[in-house]
Amino acid sequence: MPSQNSIGVGLISVGVMGRLHARSYLQSSQFFPELPRRAELVVAADPDAGGRAYASDALGFRETTTDYRQLLAHPDVDVVSICSPPFLHHEMALAAVEAGKHFWIEKPMGRSARESRDIAERAGAAGLFTGVGFNYRHAPAVAEARRLIRTGALGRITNLQLRMITSYASDPAQPFTWRYEEAQAGSGALADVLSHGFDLAQFLVAPIKSVSSVTERFIPKRTVPGTGETREVENEDYAAVLARFEGGVVGVLETTRVAVGPHAEYIVEVYGTEGSLRWNFDRMNQLELADDGSGYRTIMTPTSYGEFGRFQPNAGPGIGFNDLKTIEAALFLRSVAEGRQLAPSAADGWSAAEIVDAALRSAASGEWVDVPVVSGSLTTQA
Ligand SMILES: NC(=O)c1ccc[n+]([C@@H]2O[C@H](COP(=O)([O-])OP(=O)(O)OC[C@H]3O[C@@H](n4cnc5c(N)ncnc54)[C@H](O)[C@@H]3O)[C@@H](O)[C@H]2O)c1
Repeated sequence: MPSQNSIGVGLISVGVMGRLHARSYLQSSQFFPELPRRAELVVAADPDAGGRAYASDALGFRETTTDYRQLLAHPDVDVVSICSPPFLHHEMALAAVEAGKHFWIEKPMGRSARESRDIAERAGAAGLFTGVGFNYRHAPAVAEARRLIRTGALGRITNLQLRMITSYASDPAQPFTWRYEEAQAGSGALADVLSHGFDLAQFLVAPIKSVSSVTERFIPKRTVPGTGETREVENEDYAAVLARFEGGVVGVLETTRVAVGPHAEYIVEVYGTEGSLRWNFDRMNQLELADDGSGYRTIMTPTSYGEFGRFQPNAGPGIGFNDLKTIEAALFLRSVAEGRQLAPSAADGWSAAEIVDAALRSAASGEWVDVPVVSGSLTTQA
């Protein structure tokens, strides 16, 4: 039985992201002590025995189960994290809605815009609060970039350039996994990587209205583990997207999952009539600003940027990727506690999914494709 001032957490899937969600819940009350209820890890669900053992022994969950439906039925569970591979997200999110549990779900939210829309609309109709794993918008330097853009420090924004270059799939000998199968993952680098970029670009500048894109597959086959047989990779390794934003801004967004060299070079550059700025996840505690005609200068994140001061009260060495998830956990828990939807929400997951779908349709047809307007996205950040 959780105490009165705690909020019971159920974790679905104890993989890489599930473990991080659990740590982030625990850290949220340390870095955000004003949260009215402290997260308590109640039950974790995973068919994998190793994951369940980690949940109880390392993370401190009171109970574990192989069946996520048992978790959703648990009376002490108030909120749920959904950290499974994407093919299970739709089914699990709808079951969470049915059980009346607020949920924080990893990206890509659904395998398609249709699945993502279904999740967002059903959660909204049930009056539930949601969080979605668009962690890069929580970087303090990104929060400052958004403030500078919003307050007109760069003048009128003209264009944006964004690159998300990763190497996680660059080794052709790496086995076939869920990421390469359409039925399990949906699309490839577009959904898995560039959905983050679509969210970041919209968060910084404005909603994306239409896209024109090309996609490419560079490693066409991979070996199925344990069989020695090869299987065709069903989705794209690479995508380049031209975008038109609301308000006349234009942009170029590019991604690959098979770059040899850069691990996570996620760079966004925003250009305006009075200046430019640049942020690179590889150096996430820096913001580059060019607003006085003398080129870029590098600003080391001060305590005033976003939530930086909570982690480094003396403007110390910097924060890391895991801290972004703590900020995300706190936003989700605040949404539930305050009874108002803070972003990023399921509507933002749906919005990014509409852009992914539009980009896929454009790549197939060679035409510009309009992106449907998504209601409820880009709501209050904090
Ligand atoms: N936000 C980010 O930056 C980020 C980074 C990496 C991954 N992700 C996303 O997180 C999600 C999970 O990715 P991951 O890297 O943690 O994957 P993973 O392969 O490490 O973990 C997946 C887990 O799901 C479990 N699982 C499988 N079937 C299940 C079922 N029926 N019920 C419960 N659990 C089940 C597996 O046993 C495994 O523990 C994906 O949507 C991925 O795109 C987000």
